[in-house]
Amino acid sequence: MIRIIHSISELQKWSMDQKKQGKTVGLVPTMGFLHAGHLSLIDAARAGGADSVVVSVFVNPTQFGPTEDFDQYPRDFEHDRRLCEERGADVIFAPAVSDMYAAPVTCWVEETEISKGLCGRTRPIHFRGVATVVTKLFNAALPDLAVFGQKDAQQAAVIKRMVRDLNFPVRIIVAPIVREEDGLALSSRNKYLSKDEHDRALSISRSLFAAKKALESGIRKDALAETGIIRKALEEAGGVVDYVEVLDPDSMMPLTDGSVRPALFAVAVRFGSTRLIDNLRVERA
Ligand code: PAJ
Repeated sequence: MIRIIHSISELQKWSMDQKKQGKTVGLVPTMGFLHAGHLSLIDAARAGGADSVVVSVFVNPTQFGPTEDFDQYPRDFEHDRRLCEERGADVIFAPAVSDMYAAPVTCWVEETEISKGLCGRTRPIHFRGVATVVTKLFNAALPDLAVFGQKDAQQAAVIKRMVRDLNFPVRIIVAPIVREEDGLALSSRNKYLSKDEHDRALSISRSLFAAKKALESGIRKDALAETGIIRKALEEAGGVVDYVEVLDPDSMMPLTDGSVRPALFAVAVRFGSTRLIDNLRVERA
């Protein structure tokens, strides 16, 4: 049976015990409502050398803006428990909000460069909430390594920068995006999509993969021009585009020269009231 831990001090004790036994501890931070994308992170933790894996399930209030879906965010702990157990995780850490955040919170962790563009423009407090909760999860789980998904490329870059700048002794592994067979990147928010919206949202992965193919085959050369083509495809499918950008995948800074490779296309777009993000890396032709 997978062990469920609610208390921070109990998790710290568990982690220190694992290390005393010579085991490497891996952390997979999630907000629950788990799907195959999350579960792939457990495999990536094992592949990266974790002997003991803790999955945190915590819908973090501080990363949601006042008009965002914190209250509506889907939750199903029993389902999450079963999936983590089947996938072979050792522990689920599921703290209460009141244990993670004593009111008032007056101390934050903030990355000030990577977090400003892309999703940071429309979600100004989001990455401060993410960096703060991930710090708290690191202090609770004391992991040797932690796994994040490339699905949230900006988030992974913010966490890597935070770990570098603040000297966290944690190795960060970034695992590839898991997609549905039809190409849609798996997300807990996909459950908000109607069938029609889901079909129209396939324009995201289709337009990204089309851009990759055009550039890598050499049919087209300018990655900056490609953002216009992607935007048009999304709008034709009825999407309301937040951004379509092409970035340096390491720095996550926008490219000003469309011939630079590798390049990362990043998209955020709304179908109905559901905001979806996706990204795809393009290599040299
Ligand atoms: P959540 O959205 O639950 O995602 C947890 C982790 O799963 C993230 O690292 C995310 O990138 C990864 N993930 C989600 N969908 C994926 C997919 N289709 N393929 C691969 N990985 C995927 O991201 C968060 O939670 C929170 O911000 C968190 C880091 C837990 C802090 O609260």
